Parts: sequence; structure tokens; C-alpha cells
Amino acid sequence: MCGIVGYIGHRQAYPILIKGLQRLEYRGYDSAGIALFDGNIMNYKQKGKVADLEQFCEGKNIKSTIGIGHTRWATHGVPNDVNAHPHHSQDKSISIIHNGIIENYESIKKALQKRGHQFESETDTEVLVHLIEEIQKKENTSLFESVRLALNEVVGAYAIAVISNENIDEVIVAKKGSPLVVGIGENEFFIASDATPIVEYTKEVVYLEEGEVARLSIKDGFELKTIENVILTPYVQELEMSLEAIEKGGYEHFMLKEIFEQPKSITDTIRGRLLSSNASIKMQGIDSYSDNILQADRIIIIACGTSWHAGLIGEYLLEDLARINVEVEYASEFRYRNPIIREKDVVLAISQSGETADTLAAMRLAKEKGATVLAICNVVGSSIARLSDAGAYTHAGPEIGVASTKAFTAQVTILTLISLLLARKKSTISESYYRQLLIELEMIPKKVESMISMNDYVEDISKKFVDAQNFLYLGRGYNFPVALEGALKLKEISYIHAEGYPAAEMKHGPIALIDENMPIVVIATKKGHYEKVVSNIQEVKARNGIVIAIVTYGDTTVKEIADYVIEIPEVAEPLTPILANIPLQLLSYYIAVMRGCNVDQPRNLAKSVTVE
Ligand code: G6P
Repeated sequence: MCGIVGYIGHRQAYPILIKGLQRLEYRGYDSAGIALFDGNIMNYKQKGKVADLEQFCEGKNIKSTIGIGHTRWATHGVPNDVNAHPHHSQDKSISIIHNGIIENYESIKKALQKRGHQFESETDTEVLVHLIEEIQKKENTSLFESVRLALNEVVGAYAIAVISNENIDEVIVAKKGSPLVVGIGENEFFIASDATPIVEYTKEVVYLEEGEVARLSIKDGFELKTIENVILTPYVQELEMSLEAIEKGGYEHFMLKEIFEQPKSITDTIRGRLLSSNASIKMQGIDSYSDNILQADRIIIIACGTSWHAGLIGEYLLEDLARINVEVEYASEFRYRNPIIREKDVVLAISQSGETADTLAAMRLAKEKGATVLAICNVVGSSIARLSDAGAYTHAGPEIGVASTKAFTAQVTILTLISLLLARKKSTISESYYRQLLIELEMIPKKVESMISMNDYVEDISKKFVDAQNFLYLGRGYNFPVALEGALKLKEISYIHAEGYPAAEMKHGPIALIDENMPIVVIATKKGHYEKVVSNIQEVKARNGIVIAIVTYGDTTVKEIADYVIEIPEVAEPLTPILANIPLQLLSYYIAVMRGCNVDQPRNLAKSVTVE
């Protein structure tokens, strides 16, 4: 969690840091801070959002051509001004920002306290900067070397940036377990947790690898080494991201923009992969491991949050179409459960950010046990993408809204492509069905567009539920994970309690909750166990529940019994989840907006959970 930015060069650092922090606010937003050089290194930090920090900095001397900044999501220590980053050394000459967790900070802290160090905050980060200071004084060495030596003593995850009074021509950065990108301009360097704060200044970037530490100096350039002191040459890459992709472009919220972008993002996901001319699917990464997949005893899908829901849909797709045994695991459970992993297993990680700590750890575990590890990621060059043996990028473009929308539909699209690719190789579906699904998949962006044109209609329905206290979401088969995802979306951004259930399980518990105040969203599309779901709707109505039904276009049966009906275009069953999900995204979005919630930055949540 947390976002870090930094700058050194000829421009004023302050506006670059503030803009960068705003771009990274999705990573955490309970406090923010910056360090600038004004004769001395000065830390300015404030509980709250980046806007609060800006207000706090008004009237202060913020002139500096070097600076670091941080937006925090609290792990060690409550969100307050003192615990906000940057933190400084005992003599206040060194400032640090940090994303990650120093696991052995307590023992280091005790040892430092014995040597006279006093700490202001409750954070692990402050301990690290004191340790750097201690080493620098003891070894009488450079800041670069002191940071490197200090990192050899810590256990945990970090992306850090450090500046010091001693030499304001350098920023020291390091990475292990948390992402860090350095942008290279003309006599200037930009530092950030991801490329979004950098893209408007330069497209030349270096992604730091695990256990690397660098010194960025205008005089001496980019010096890179491992924390074991092996000198390296930085690998400069060209950024593919565009500035427009990370701006709101006239929408009130990123979430709405990202919902509306789905016809394009799904098109981008299938572009170059679905070749309708010869009815084939080209996915280089997956193809190169298709023998491992076809010989595998099973595929274990690991993911968290919304990506886990995409994984559940993947289970239906891979089992139904390619007849492959699939297990879907919460990465956080899997990694601590002493799971049975065999060399013939294929583990497939799914992650929008590619940085989720639990998913990364579960992948490492699977690798240690010799399994093939594949990944579906959105963020190019992310840790999960790099750790995997191979995989596929979703190409959904940057997703800024904390609640995942377009990344989810892109993940489901990729899983559909993979399932069809394997199904054809295994001949588990007929050639005609394969071709039909391919054609329908190609038409999905158009159908998603028609769903989005129902925006105003869904907004009207949403008005009726602004004051709801609870919500139930029901679906069956392919639509069961859609119900889970619909419920998650609503609770994440509107703070209404919502539960998703397999429709048939309603009678084993949730039915007790149903009364005239309970809205129930039921996904009752034509091909997915339709009659049985219709019976569930009747059971709900018999108890006076309020039904919002997602049905196939032209349905008349459900229209007669449900209170509100949202129609989706007719589509082959395996493709229903993508379409059925869209109105649920809109429903939660509008309910949250009408309740006055901050949909792009819901309380307590962060876009990318890089801590356990
Ligand atoms: C956080 C986000 C969710 C996301 C989950 C997994 O909880 O708020 O939107 O689904 O992490 O993240 P990932 O980047 O691995 O998909």
C-alpha cells in the first residue's frame, strides 16, 4: 500500500510531487507528506488527503529542486500527522519515504533505543531511517552505502526514497517486494510507485528489480547495484502508457470513466489474440506453456478480491469448455495452509495491479514446489508479471478507481480466451460451438456498449435504494461469481452491507433475512438454470422482498414478477458474466454517489494491497 514519489532536477519539485501524489492517491489516502530542501531537509506532513497537505503547505517556503513525497495507508501506527511520512533521522538530516513493511523493526528499534535513539512515531519506517543514520555515522560512509548496508539488516518489504542534507545532488532509492519506477529525463529523475506520475514528463523508465538499490544524481547519473553490492547497468524501457489514459477526461469519477471504457478495454484485451479470419486464438505466453497446462493434473487459480471473483468465473469456463480440473483459492489462505502443490500443477495468478502481497507470496510458494506459475495481470512490468513463468496482460489500461471494473471484465475476457484455446487443443467442444463462441466474443464489446447505454435507466433504479441497509445478490452457475462481485462492488463503495449467494443456497439461510425492506438482485438470464432461478424469485416475492432482476432481452416471465428488470443482450452462456456484471457496476456506482460516498477512494480501502 502507500504511494511514493520523488524528483531531482532543474524544475520545482513541489508541484511535481503534489501532482504525483494525487495520481497515486488510489494506493492509500489516510495521510500524506513531502520532504523538500530549504537550506535543510524539511518534512511537511498531514493527516488526510493530498488536498489537506496542499492546504497545509500554503504559505510555506516550498522552493526546492529535490523532494520526495508519500501518500499513506496505515499499517504500523494510526493515521495521524506524526505517523505520516516522510520520517527523519535523529539529527533530522536524512528523510525517508517507504512503502512496505519492515518486519523486524521492533528488535532494531530496541537496539537503537539502547544507543540513545528516540522515536517520534509508531512506524517501522522511522526505525529504518534511524538505522541508516546510525550506520552512516559508525561506518563514516556515503548515504548510498549506508542505505545499502541498512537494507541488509532488515527483513520485510520496501520501496524507499531517501534524501539527506549532506548531499542534495542525490536521491537514494531501493526496492524489495514493493514497486518502484525511475523516470529518466534530461538532467532530471522522477521516482514513483507506478508510472502514472512519470508519464507526463518522460517515457524512459527503469523498473527496479528485487533487492536493488540506486543512487540518482544529476552530476553522476544513475548508479545501480544489488544490496549485496554487485554493480548493475540500469535497463531503460519505453513506457507505453498515455497521459489521457490516467486522467478523468470529463467524467465525474474514474470509476464511471472506467465502466464506460469497457467496450474499448475488452476490444484491447482481445486485439491480436482472437483472429477471426482463421478462427484461431493467439496467446504467446499461454501457448508456450500449453503442454504443461494440458498435462497438468489441475489448475490452481490464486487471487484476491475482485480478481478472485474473475478466477471463479475462470473455473466455470475452464471446466465447462476445456474440461480441466480447477481449484480457486484466496491467495492469503493458500499460502498459509500448507497446501499440496505438485510439480504437475499449474498455478494461475490473477491480479490487476500485479503487486498484491498475498498473491505474490502464494506464487513464490508454488514456484518453490516446482509448479508452473502463470499470471494474468493488468499492470505491465508489475512484480507478479515478472515473477510468473509466462502469462497474459489484460491490456485494460490504467485502472485508477479503487473498485475494480474494467480490469475485472478484461480478466474474464482473458480467461475466456484461454479456455477456448485449450478447449480447441483438447477437442473438448465441437468446432461449431468453438467458432460460435469466438464470433460472440468478438461481438461482446458492442453488447457491452448497449449495456452502458442503459446508464440513465440504471441510475433511475438506483434512486430507489439509496437508503437500503442490506442487499442480497443471487446467481447460479456462471452467474454465481457475478452475484459475489456485484455484492462486493456495492459494499466497497456505498458501505451498504451486501452478500452474494448461489441462488439455490438462499433457502439455507439468507431467506430468513427477506422482508419488504430487503432488495435482492437476481441474475436470471435465459441460459443459466433459468427456471430454477425464476422459482427463487418467486420465493423472494412470496416473502415481500424487492427484486431487481437481470434478464435476457425480451424476457416476459420475470418481468411479471420482479419489481425492476434490467435486460442484457442474448449471448452464449459462458459469456454472460461479462454482460451481467455491467449493470451491477452501474447500480453500485449510482447508489454510492447518491449516498455522498467517495467512490474513487472508498474509506479504508486501497487499490493495491502490498502488505499482508
Ligand atoms: C484490493 C482492491 C480490489 C482488488 C484486490 C486485488 O482489495 O481494492 O479492487 O480486487 O485488491 O488486487 P489485484 O491488484 O491483485 O487484482
